[in-house]
Amino acid sequence: MLYRKMIWTLRIINSIKSGVCRASTWADFSKVSDDYDKFRIPVGRDFIAGMSQLYTGKRLQDLHILDIGCGTGQYAKEMLDLGVGRISLIDASPDMLNAAKYKLANEIEQGRVQCLETIKAPPLPFNSDCFDVILLTAVLPHLDCAGDKTYQNAVKMLEEANRVLTKNGTIVITTSFFSTFSRYWFCKVCPELCQRLCEYFPSASDFEIMFTRANLKCVQKFTVIGAGFMSYEGMVNSEGYVDQAWINSACCFDLATEEELTAIQDKVHTLYQNGKWKEWLAENDSTNELGIATFFVCQRKDNEGQAQ
Ligand SMILES: C[S@@+](CC[C@H](N)C(=O)[O-])C[C@H]1O[C@@H](n2cnc3c(N)ncnc32)[C@H](O)[C@@H]1O
Repeated sequence: MLYRKMIWTLRIINSIKSGVCRASTWADFSKVSDDYDKFRIPVGRDFIAGMSQLYTGKRLQDLHILDIGCGTGQYAKEMLDLGVGRISLIDASPDMLNAAKYKLANEIEQGRVQCLETIKAPPLPFNSDCFDVILLTAVLPHLDCAGDKTYQNAVKMLEEANRVLTKNGTIVITTSFFSTFSRYWFCKVCPELCQRLCEYFPSASDFEIMFTRANLKCVQKFTVIGAGFMSYEGMVNSEGYVDQAWINSACCFDLATEEELTAIQDKVHTLYQNGKWKEWLAENDSTNELGIATFFVCQRKDNEGQAQ
């Protein structure tokens, strides 16, 4: 038992150390990339399109979006399908970016994808004032180590986003909080895992401080209810266990111990065998009903501190 705990502690320390040169301080996106699109849902894409037009004052076809930490390009694809003119994508993980390249093959050929590169940000290798909209969807919690409540890399990222933004440009950020993330069913089985993960999530007031430090003004914030980030279709396999692909697709399980993963599988399997799984899930998961994706929409402050 003690030996297992030591091994697990070493794993976490190594993962934090290697995070310095990896895509995330805690998640292994080369492992996530194969299964991400099987279960991940680009929640709120229509909101992003609407907010982008409203706050920039431009039509979708005239927008150039920079998607930072684009992952497999889910949001980029949705934006282009909705009519956005041009998009540039960067991600620190070559595996996630390869999936995006494959997904956007047609749009690349049409010249609607301006840049698609493996880049670990910040800094951003772009001139000032060149993007109308910047997306940072589920990226900021990957930049700083747990317990670093100054979120120094996240602030640098926001400062850089501010710099490359055009006048009236808009930054769209998504995140989760402890209060929303704990709506996942597996947080009921392993509350410590939930707690450990949420150490990386800035709180709503941390975000406000970060925006001020990056000279940004938050012009809108909301949580999308009726939609969670993860599809549960095919989550449990025919033997009554959580499918490995579902676990792989959700980077949060990179922070789970072997004991926690076993506890999750045992719980699901027992419920499944007793014919109680669906009922238990409905009672213990409110991600779809109450939502998990919180959006912040920001603009650069002018000299009077107002959004430009
Ligand atoms: C949870 S995924 C979100 C992907 C995508 N934005 C989405 O919403 O589907 C986080 C992504 O951020 C990327 N990432 C993390 N740190 C990064 C950094 N410093 N620079 C660029 N990308 C980063 C990871 O490689 C990963 O693809």
